[in-house]
Amino acid sequence: MLSRLQPVTIAAKRMVSTSVTKSTLAAPAVGPTKLGTRSQAVFDREDRYGAHNYHPLPVALNKGQGVFVWDVEGNRYYDFLSAYSACNQGHCHPKIIAALKKQSEILTLSSRAFYNNVLGEYEEYITELFKYDKVLPMNTDPSSYGGYGPYMPGFDIIPYNDVPALEKKLQDPHVCAFMFEPIQGEAGVVVPDKGYLQKVRELCTKNNVLMIADEVQTGLCRTGRLLACDHENVRPDLVILGKALSGGVMPVSAVLADDEVMLTILPGEHGSTFGGNPLACKVAIAALEVLMEEKLAENADQMGHILRQELEKLPKDVVSVLRDNGLLAKPTHGDIIRFAPPLVISKTQMEECIDIISGTVLGLKNLK
Ligand SMILES: Cc1ncc(COP(=O)(O)O)c(C=O)c1O
Repeated sequence: MLSRLQPVTIAAKRMVSTSVTKSTLAAPAVGPTKLGTRSQAVFDREDRYGAHNYHPLPVALNKGQGVFVWDVEGNRYYDFLSAYSACNQGHCHPKIIAALKKQSEILTLSSRAFYNNVLGEYEEYITELFKYDKVLPMNTDPSSYGGYGPYMPGFDIIPYNDVPALEKKLQDPHVCAFMFEPIQGEAGVVVPDKGYLQKVRELCTKNNVLMIADEVQTGLCRTGRLLACDHENVRPDLVILGKALSGGVMPVSAVLADDEVMLTILPGEHGSTFGGNPLACKVAIAALEVLMEEKLAENADQMGHILRQELEKLPKDVVSVLRDNGLLAKPTHGDIIRFAPPLVISKTQMEECIDIISGTVLGLKNLK
């Protein structure tokens, strides 16, 4: 059921401003954090020597463990972004770090010019877990966002969650694939109507068009299932994974498909210097094992329900800054904020976070 997609990937509309202004930073509600010269030195150095291609919130992190991150002043925060869901397993998960350390002293990169003894182990593990014939291992690529462009040619954009628009587009015999996110992430955590995923599957099958699900943000337990498409028991022809595939340890991504699709790629047609490197493979196996062993889909489902239930009680018309109160989250699109904590979060921790969120929202409401 799609309503159950919502638990952990949550859009709490109109709760948090899109930018942190000096006045809002100075408006503590519960246990304000301190930002000082150490933080400023970090901001200034990046500003001086780095390209200005990001606009981070003013907090400089230097440590992460589980659901927590610390800044250079020693303040501890709940991480409610999880590096855009790359840290679903929590920061510096001991099992994943152990795999990283062990393999880093054996063999890190062979290139695909040669075989290595780990790639096959990873390929077997991930394809059996997701029940696809084959995997194409990748490391992630630079993204380009709205206004940057140019977008990859050959893609026509149609409205999301709009079955008639898809139906109409698929009448064009030159359309060979439909690529989409089961829940849109950067577009503002847009959850489609119940039945949309099934309808997409149905239309793609009917029109002999490949259904490509970008599960980079929604996959790997974030929505309370291993894949978001599992909510409607839909099997895409291709699944794209990234982010939590390494538990936030290094860039690892993958495409899953069956032989009919994957074997159309011939040697030399699609290369990647780092794709399939043994270090990444061992890290990815460990990251996937953690998701399964710690039952993080189930935990996401349960904790997400608790969080949603409490959030729905809050007023929606206030601007909020949660950082001052020890919880890091980031607006994703206009006035929408995504709450995406690491999935290892416990009930007690979730309750504390709910207190922070409620305290912040209600505190600011009272200030008005
Ligand atoms: C849905 C989705 N697909 C793909 C990507 C690209 O991933 P990467 O930046 O790791 O290449 C992102 C990054 O945020 C994403 O959110």
